[in-house]
Amino acid sequence: MTAPHIAINPSILYFGTPVVLLTTENADGSANLAPISSAWALGQVVVLGLGAEGQSARNLAERAGLVINLPAPHQWEAVERLAPLTGRDPVPASKPAGCRFEPDKFGAAGLRAEPSDTVRPPRVAECPIQLEARAERVGEAVSGGFVIVEAAVGKVHADPRLVVPGTDHVDPAAWSPLIYNFRHYFGLGAELGHSYRSQTPREAVAG
Ligand SMILES: Cc1cc2nc3c(=O)[nH]c(=O)nc-3n(C[C@H](O)[C@H](O)[C@H](O)COP(=O)(O)O)c2cc1C
Repeated sequence: MTAPHIAINPSILYFGTPVVLLTTENADGSANLAPISSAWALGQVVVLGLGAEGQSARNLAERAGLVINLPAPHQWEAVERLAPLTGRDPVPASKPAGCRFEPDKFGAAGLRAEPSDTVRPPRVAECPIQLEARAERVGEAVSGGFVIVEAAVGKVHADPRLVVPGTDHVDPAAWSPLIYNFRHYFGLGAELGHSYRSQTPREAVAG
C-alpha cells in the first residue's frame, strides 16, 4: 500500500549522488581541491555542476585540466574538512557564512597530492578511483549562479583491489562510493541486483 504523498518545499534537492573531490589548477599553478556532488557520467564525459563564483568554476573557465577523484565512505571527514573552504580570495559574498579562504586545501583536508599523467592538476592519492579529464564546455546554468561543465575523461586510475583481475571492470562488490544524501553522508548497502547491461563477470561479484 502506498501512503498518500504530501507536497513539500525542500530548500535543496540533493537526493543522493556520489561525492567527488575535484582538483583544478589555480592561476599560479597551485592546485585547488573542492568537494562536489553534482556529477554524473554520460559515456566518457562527466557533467559537473559548480557554483559560478567558486574557485573551481573560475579555474575551469581558464584552464581545462581537472581530476575527478572519488572518495570512499570512510573518507567523509576529510571531505567535510574541505566543506567550509574556498580557494578564492577574497571570499565571494555569495558563499555561505563561515566560508573562508584556504590556499592549501590538501593540507587542510589531510590528503596527499599525486601527479597526474595527462593533466596538470594532481590526483588525490587516497581516493581509490581518479578520472583525469579536460573541460570541453563550460556554460551558464539556467538556474543562474551555477555553471555546467562537460569534462571529457582521458585516463582512469583505480586501486587494483577494485578491479576484476585481468579486465577493465570495476568490481561493484568491491567499490562503494560516498553518497551525499540531502547534506548527509552515506555509504552503499548490500547489492540488490544488477542491470541487464552489466558486463562484470558474475563470479567477481558473487558472495
Ligand atoms: C559533500 C559536498 C558536496 C558539494 N557539492 C557541490 C556541488 O555539486 N557543486 C558546487 O559548486 N559546490 C558543492 N559543494 C560546495 C563546495 O565544496 C564549496 O562551495 C567550496 O567552497 C568550493 O570551493 P572552491 O570555491 O575552492 O571551488 C559541496 C560541498 C560538499 C561538502
